[in-house]
Amino acid sequence: MRKNIVAGNWKMNNDLSQTKSLISDLLTKVSGTETKVMIAPAFTNLHIACELTKQSPIEVAAQNMHFAENGAYTGEVSASMLKSIGVNTVILGHSERRAQFREDDAILAKKIDAALQNDMTIIFCFGEELEDRNSGNHFAIVKSQLKNALSHLETKDWENIILAYEPVWAIGTGVTATPDQAQEMHYFVRKMIDECVGGHVADNTSVLYGGSVKPDNAKEIFSKSDVDGGLIGGASLNADDFMTIIDAFNRS
Ligand code: PGA
Repeated sequence: MRKNIVAGNWKMNNDLSQTKSLISDLLTKVSGTETKVMIAPAFTNLHIACELTKQSPIEVAAQNMHFAENGAYTGEVSASMLKSIGVNTVILGHSERRAQFREDDAILAKKIDAALQNDMTIIFCFGEELEDRNSGNHFAIVKSQLKNALSHLETKDWENIILAYEPVWAIGTGVTATPDQAQEMHYFVRKMIDECVGGHVADNTSVLYGGSVKPDNAKEIFSKSDVDGGLIGGASLNADDFMTIIDAFNRS
């Protein structure tokens, strides 16, 4: 069965001391949750984050990585470097990477392959821009993003894939997709996996929603049958807000 997951994408926020203090705050609150909890600090803070969360339910993810194993790629970080400090999950395809760093579907496909070769879990982000939605093109855009980056995968690779639908117009804007809009797209994505890969994979792949998820809207969004959790930006920087979102799924 697919898991409920709440992942915090900290983006370029939190220095070392802020990272330590946010993690220690989260550690005091997170025990007993059945939801899988992930945090994605900046590269410089991944090592300490792994150390601090070692015996806890919190998993640490990177926000990006390069597709090459090593070499002359100034400023970049490889999958094996991440693995060597205990990071087993990476976010790929975030719209900020696509828009600001020109990561296209072909680059993302290579990154996905590199992550899989290193047995990493991937949170793969996709989603349409506002003009695509306004012109009714959002399903076609999402379909092509998923096909271009993921259609070459083998069935077993899907065990390492988490999907995150992140409509670009909802990210950091305070405008959230309505729960029905999220459900409609998540259902579309699951149906696509069913048709292209198989029903077993469709049933077992977690599809997260991201884009202005906040403590006051998480419960309604997560109540939708094809929404398995969230990728949270701004609200993950505050321990209480993040915990309220995690608690939007039932606690034991
Ligand atoms: P937001 O960011 O929650 O601040 O909208 C979500 C994301 O970028 O993953």
